[in-house]
Amino acid sequence: MSLLELDSVEVTYSRRGRDPVRAVAGASIDLRPGEIMGLVGESGCGKSTLARVAAGLLAPSAGAVRFDGEPIGKLSRRARPRREVKLQMVFQDPYSSLNPRRRIGSQLADAIRINRLLPADQHERRVVELLGHVGLPASALHSYPHQFSGGQRQRLAIARALAAEPTVLVLDEPLSALDASAQAQVANLLLQLCRELKIAMLLISHDLAIVRQIADRISVMYLGLIVETGTTQQIWSEPQHPYTRALIGAIPHADGLGTKPEALPGEVPDPARPPSGCRFHPRCPHTHDRCTTAAPSLIPLAGERTVACWLHVEGGAGPATDTTTTDR
Ligand SMILES: Nc1ncnc2c1ncn2[C@@H]1O[C@H](COP(=O)(O)OP(=O)(O)OP(=O)(O)O)[C@@H](O)[C@H]1O
Ligand SMILES: [Mg+2]
Repeated sequence: MSLLELDSVEVTYSRRGRDPVRAVAGASIDLRPGEIMGLVGESGCGKSTLARVAAGLLAPSAGAVRFDGEPIGKLSRRARPRREVKLQMVFQDPYSSLNPRRRIGSQLADAIRINRLLPADQHERRVVELLGHVGLPASALHSYPHQFSGGQRQRLAIARALAAEPTVLVLDEPLSALDASAQAQVANLLLQLCRELKIAMLLISHDLAIVRQIADRISVMYLGLIVETGTTQQIWSEPQHPYTRALIGAIPHADGLGTKPEALPGEVPDPARPPSGCRFHPRCPHTHDRCTTAAPSLIPLAGERTVACWLHVEGGAGPATDTTTTDR
């Protein structure tokens, strides 16, 4: 069963005097209990928008979001039903969730108090436990955010999210503001929290190497749509969508370290004026007539993976050998 389900989600931003942007154009994702799902794609493809919808911070223009089987709506933090505090978000910049002028101990205690999770006399014990979960000493509770390194601050932001005892964390580029060694350490911490505390994570990252290292499954997003989903092993060893192949093919080193999808050839189209048919067709090496006129929907392939590409026939395991594929 899915713990967090995004079903054909659309988000359109209206802009004064300019065309509206359909930043998310009907994307579906399901996150299962205790798994890490990586969400990858080039800059501007709608990852952060989708993350904010997934965390209940932004209402979709169309489609549905379900958490634990129940629809969620956009509500202020305080007005949210209690069960929805189990859905927490971590941002790229830890300062956005930490107050620079308050000691760590009282900020973490606040998160416990706001969610009415424990009586006041147990707050300090729990704060120390939360610091332990993120690998920081108990003495950190007396310090201010600026007294920590970037990696430590991100650990604190994660501890703040953990205070709500989440079953799901949505993390939007949680590592991209960190240096390489802090990235690796925080990535390991996420994996450990997922396994030990059984927290499911939707992990948005530009860095394919890190996603490969810690995600159980990967969804690939292109211009507002999910174009492929599969296990990390499947996506890595047998990418089916030409875009996924291009993303992985753009990695210069065997170990894939530090690779960003920006390395892909061709321009990312303007999401306010997306190409007709398959949105990837102007950059695709396999484009044929149908790709320019009709958008492929996500097709299930063997092994619980899905792909949205005309090169694939329903139930098929790989690219069709000719381009006259079956209509769906
Ligand atoms: N508040 C907004 N108003 C108008 N357009 C927006 C707004 N927020 C995002 N957009 C546009 O929506 C599209 C998707 O943006 P989003 O931030 O979700 O992408 P992203 O995949 O997270 O990119 P990045 O990797 O650079 O963080 C972009 O074209 C962006 O310019
Ligand atoms: Mg973003």
